Amino acid sequence: MEYDIFPRIRERRLRKNQKIRDLVAEVSLNKNNLVQPLFIYPGENGMEEIRSMPGVCRMTIDRSLKFIGEGLASGINAYLLFGIPSHKDELGTEAYDEEGIIPKAVRTIKKEYPDAVIITDVCMCEYTSHGHCGIVVNGKVDNDVTLSYLAKTAVVYAKAGADIVAPSSMMDGQVKAIRDALDESNFKDTIIMSYSSKFASSLYGPFREAADSKPQFGDRKSYQMDYRSARTALREIELDIKEGADIVMVKPAMFYMDIITKAKEKFLVPLAAYSVSGEYSMIKAAAKNGWIDEDQVLWEYMLSLKRAGADIIITYYAKHLAEYLR
Ligand code: PBG
Ligand code: ZN
Repeated sequence: MEYDIFPRIRERRLRKNQKIRDLVAEVSLNKNNLVQPLFIYPGENGMEEIRSMPGVCRMTIDRSLKFIGEGLASGINAYLLFGIPSHKDELGTEAYDEEGIIPKAVRTIKKEYPDAVIITDVCMCEYTSHGHCGIVVNGKVDNDVTLSYLAKTAVVYAKAGADIVAPSSMMDGQVKAIRDALDESNFKDTIIMSYSSKFASSLYGPFREAADSKPQFGDRKSYQMDYRSARTALREIELDIKEGADIVMVKPAMFYMDIITKAKEKFLVPLAAYSVSGEYSMIKAAAKNGWIDEDQVLWEYMLSLKRAGADIIITYYAKHLAEYLR
């Protein structure tokens, strides 16, 4: 065999310099597609750093206004709100109380910043004393009993002014129950972004510390998905779209990029990827040790998510990225 020392096709031509590389780049990161999660707790002028998420704070509503004001100024339009209630009980009543932490936060934020896109997580685990994502009956999370509570919660958030509600409890039929309830209450334009493909992942640990939502018994494996199956994820997404989800999500994002790519190929609705708390903590910890370059790794990761097929990226780094993008 003759060894061709003069190849005509030279892949390296297109890598010659930065301008040429930029010219042929297939993906880019746009601030418009980023969502910043926020943890909100009752009280005034409060801000506490989360131990396992350096640089991320839980804050009171007044402090969240300042945070969102700065975020909007740097180009982050969308915020995903999680509430830490003043009181937890078996039925998670503060989740759907109109005077609860999230409805109050939404009303206050929307009054100050009507153009901010406000997304509210719809789940029970931050509000229940047992820390499960649904109503517990005879020691088990009861799917169908939980549906009406989720629907009620979504309507309360829509009424407070949420643009998007994001059911994350992984109960079967939750999207339909919420869509029906929203439509009946005349919130026909409230968007549903469903956590359709949510795996039972160990990467949620820091979040559970932040939201104080660790299950007090058992685990979430009977409702969140088993990570050994990709097809389950695709079935869940398909069902959610049939039930009326406007936007679907894959969560976590890291380790699950195959799911993102498959979902992108198969479905035609906007696709969100949630880069979860444990991902943030891992990058942060390595960076703090000086083992990786935080911004370089973050940039590479975000563009990889775009390449995999994510339209929207939910990340605790959103505000940081916006400043970096400037
Ligand atoms: C509520 C919820 C969780 C996350 C988002 N919504 C926690 C869980 O399912 O235990 C995790 C987000 C993160 O880890 O960043 N169900
Ligand atoms: Zn939950």
